[in-house]
Amino acid sequence: MNKPDHKFLLKGARRHEHASFDVLVENGRIAAAGPSGSIEAPSGVESVQAEGKLLFPSFIDAHVHLREPGYEYKEDIQSGLTAAAYGGFGAVMAMANTNPVNDNASVTKSMLEKARLTHPHGPALYPIGALSTGLDGKELAPMGELAEAGAKAISNDGKPVKNNELFRHAVEYAATWNLKVIDHCEDPDLAAGWQMNEGKSAMELGLKGQPGVGEAIQVARDVMLAEYLNLPVHLAHISCRQSVELIRWAKTRGVKVTAETCPHYLLLDDTALASYSTLLKVSPPLRGKDDVAAMREAVADGTIDIFATDHAPHAAHEKEVEFDQAPCGFIGLETAVALTWALVEQGVLTGRRFEELWASGPADIFNLPVNGFKAGDPADFFLFDPAESWVVNRESIHSKSLNSPWLGQELKGRVSAHWLGGVRIF
Ligand code: DOR
Repeated sequence: MNKPDHKFLLKGARRHEHASFDVLVENGRIAAAGPSGSIEAPSGVESVQAEGKLLFPSFIDAHVHLREPGYEYKEDIQSGLTAAAYGGFGAVMAMANTNPVNDNASVTKSMLEKARLTHPHGPALYPIGALSTGLDGKELAPMGELAEAGAKAISNDGKPVKNNELFRHAVEYAATWNLKVIDHCEDPDLAAGWQMNEGKSAMELGLKGQPGVGEAIQVARDVMLAEYLNLPVHLAHISCRQSVELIRWAKTRGVKVTAETCPHYLLLDDTALASYSTLLKVSPPLRGKDDVAAMREAVADGTIDIFATDHAPHAAHEKEVEFDQAPCGFIGLETAVALTWALVEQGVLTGRRFEELWASGPADIFNLPVNGFKAGDPADFFLFDPAESWVVNRESIHSKSLNSPWLGQELKGRVSAHWLGGVRIF
């Protein structure tokens, strides 16, 4: 690992329309960046060759589960941040469904301390505090305390807030602490007992479905409140057409709503569950083909603001059970860039839009630092080899858990080097 004050010139990377792009790094920051030949590097500075590789600012994942405290057998802060580093992420926002729940300053501070000790150069960890104490949806968590301890947002995560009055107060109080409210949209009654998306596949497979309208009803509640209060709400892992249509409508009215989706809602649909593989069980569930088409349009046209992985590690013994007993969720940190780059190769997204969805988009919403390759920006960037193929397995994945729908499959495109604050972290 080089020293943080190390000076070097990254040479010849591909960056958007530039076939050859150079970056001069000094004291952990971008000193200059531009097409090759446009930068005057001091004599004797070390060169790092990057020909043939794509150059991106370190990405931000605004929705991960790192499982510490409480479920370290699935993941912990050390392994989760290592997975983030190898996945191209320079910062992650960790959800509050730990044990104890992150509903107080001592949990937030202990998470930050663990990140600092295990990954002093990053990736950065930004904890998300609980919206309600114990995530039980009854009483608001102490937001001022959470904000002062370092939380960047609040959320009730997988336990959607049914009580509209409580949710309203959460949006109001969070704004006074400059915390974003992130909502997992799901009507708990319409979703009761679900195993997958409601529709033809669920009928054929004999599994209880939950309809997309259950998500959309809560999206509607959230955008109506956001408009009424003129305050922001961020919608987590949006998965279906009706939600997208409501968000698009809300944005035309100037409502302060932002939304994320995850790679799996753009790449997989509910027919995949014909295998009954519990690796495909996730919340919200994989939807129908028409929903996948709507999600692809929405990421391209800006209705969906950002990508996030919803990295949700679970141990093998928890997933290797009957379908109705298996927990929901996929790991995602190390597969996300390759999976979503495929959308650029298919012409669904431009390279610039892809970068916005993973970097400047989340930075803008959550007010986080990001590298824009301007002088003075943090020297946080990674190289991506679009031609390298690799297999998702125990050797390639740094996360403690392997619960990926792509387990055993070959992916094309891999993060090949990553610097944070000018320090090469792998
Ligand atoms: O699939 C999911 N898993 N969705 C969530 O909202 C929660 C997550 C988890 O914590 O496992």
